[in-house]
Amino acid sequence: MQRLEPDASGIQRAVELLRSGELVAFPTETVYGLGGDAMNDTAVQAIFKAKGRPADHPLIVHLPNAESMHDWASNESDRTRQLAEVFWPGPLAMVVNKQASVSNLITGGQDTVGLRVPEHPVAQQLLQAFGGALAAPSANRFGRISPTTAEHVLDEFSDASGVAAVIDGGACRVGVESTIIDLSVDRPRLLRPGMIAASEIESVLNQPLTTPDDSEGPRVSGRLESHYAPTTPLHQMAIDHIVQTVSQQTSGLGVIALHASPEIAVSNHWVFMPLEPVAYATRLYDELRKMDAMDFEKILVEQP
Ligand code: TXA
Ligand code: MG
Repeated sequence: MQRLEPDASGIQRAVELLRSGELVAFPTETVYGLGGDAMNDTAVQAIFKAKGRPADHPLIVHLPNAESMHDWASNESDRTRQLAEVFWPGPLAMVVNKQASVSNLITGGQDTVGLRVPEHPVAQQLLQAFGGALAAPSANRFGRISPTTAEHVLDEFSDASGVAAVIDGGACRVGVESTIIDLSVDRPRLLRPGMIAASEIESVLNQPLTTPDDSEGPRVSGRLESHYAPTTPLHQMAIDHIVQTVSQQTSGLGVIALHASPEIAVSNHWVFMPLEPVAYATRLYDELRKMDAMDFEKILVEQP
């Protein structure tokens, strides 16, 4: 897998690869995406294969601008236009009814499609130069932690993985996935929380958001039993319980806490995270990946 610079020649190489149906991972403001030509079913199939993702789990389509929504959505409304106006480009994905021309492979057989206009300058340059839409789920294997650096993507996919290249745009600013809103239904629903808060969306729509019931589709990673998971067992607990645990077990634990390390943590690995949610989100996946590589017995995360 090739590492490309985020300059004109790197973007040009990425566009050539994408036009020939290859997959290229690229940075967005949320996490790195694993991109393929959204109009090419072979490329879309290759994304599912590289990720090991079940075919009924739909992909988000990345658009260069809000105007291109016409080609994908069949029910553009005042709601979608208002949200696009305020939040695009940016970390918001909208699920809308799809145009008949949209591939069933992308939507996992559903009659809706997830759309997003990313704000990251490299993602923007890539989409403009490509001149079309890119299907791009997060560039990680199914169920694993999303990548927030090119290094994470390189660790995730080997040479034989079917991923041709990654454009190295450094660390992602947001660090967690986009907020997903379902606008294909009468009452808009929050499918996945993210950096754009439900309250911000509600104030634009002037309407409360609902949350889906677990028994119904559509399927969203943030709602599966296990998702965004490290391979080391992870437990969320209150700080008192963490302090008690590290005092009883002097090594083999990784801790992600909102408090500084107590002296008794001795040989356990303790990461003191910022209390501020934006700064916390930016670092979380990177810290989880680093800890996962350290082979601890358990990772303990302080309940925010
Ligand atoms: O921040 C992000 O959204 C990142 C970057 C790369 O843009 N992408 C991302 O994609 O997180 P992915 O595929 O890992 O997660 C997208 C989620 C999936 O869990 C999928 O189920 C949901 O969006 N989704 C996509 N299309 C949908 C649809 N038509 N209906 C319901 N959920 C949908
Ligand atoms: Mg994902």
